[in-house]
Amino acid sequence: MVSVAIDGPAGAGKSTLARRLAAEMGYIYVDTGAMFRTIGLYALRKGVDPKDNAAVNTLLPEIGLRVDCIDGEQHIYLNGEDVSTAIRTEEAGMAASAVGANPEVRAFLLELQRGMTKTQNVLMDGRDIGTVVLPDATVKIFLTAAPEARARRRWLEYQQKGMEVAFEDVLTDVKQRDYQDTHRAAAPLKQAEDAVLLDTSDLNFEQSLAAMKKIIAEKVN
Ligand code: DC
Repeated sequence: MVSVAIDGPAGAGKSTLARRLAAEMGYIYVDTGAMFRTIGLYALRKGVDPKDNAAVNTLLPEIGLRVDCIDGEQHIYLNGEDVSTAIRTEEAGMAASAVGANPEVRAFLLELQRGMTKTQNVLMDGRDIGTVVLPDATVKIFLTAAPEARARRRWLEYQQKGMEVAFEDVLTDVKQRDYQDTHRAAAPLKQAEDAVLLDTSDLNFEQSLAAMKKIIAEKVN
């Protein structure tokens, strides 16, 4: 089975690019951020501080997670409820970043993530896919862009969804999440030694897509 690992900071365009590539290549797209967001969302709903590892850990046995691919779109279920839309808020993103620093949460999700690559070709995106989850991935890409470029893209996405968010707030969140994701002890965001670096700050979507296809084509026939 072929696996393509795509890591990088929030807003680098990982999910949009990976989704499109997966559709074109006939692969399954696995968005691991959605899994952390779901756990973050559950903690918020239970009134538990996502930064409180011990409290979050007591919730884990209550959490049933299931991921399904419907018409090329990943759907994620929390104890049977489709939370694919509910997890797409700034708040759930910050909560995801907080629970992502919790080693027990990472261990809880690892089996699920690895299991998905056993029977199907996947494009998996996240923060530690090339370094921890799939160290033997066929292709590893580290996708990044300047914080301002990433915040602008996130802000435009919110605008398109009719969500009123100030650009400065999005930029602050992007920087804070970068800090949290790169400074945590458990599986911090970092480029795998054998990953190809792609900076999309000055590339539009089509250019980024073409660059990724080139990197993948060099490793996969
Ligand atoms: O990709 P995203 O913005 O949906 O991810 C939300 C947060 O989840 C991110 O800030 C850090 C965490 N995360 C992680 O720790 N490991 C992953 N493989 C994916 C996401």
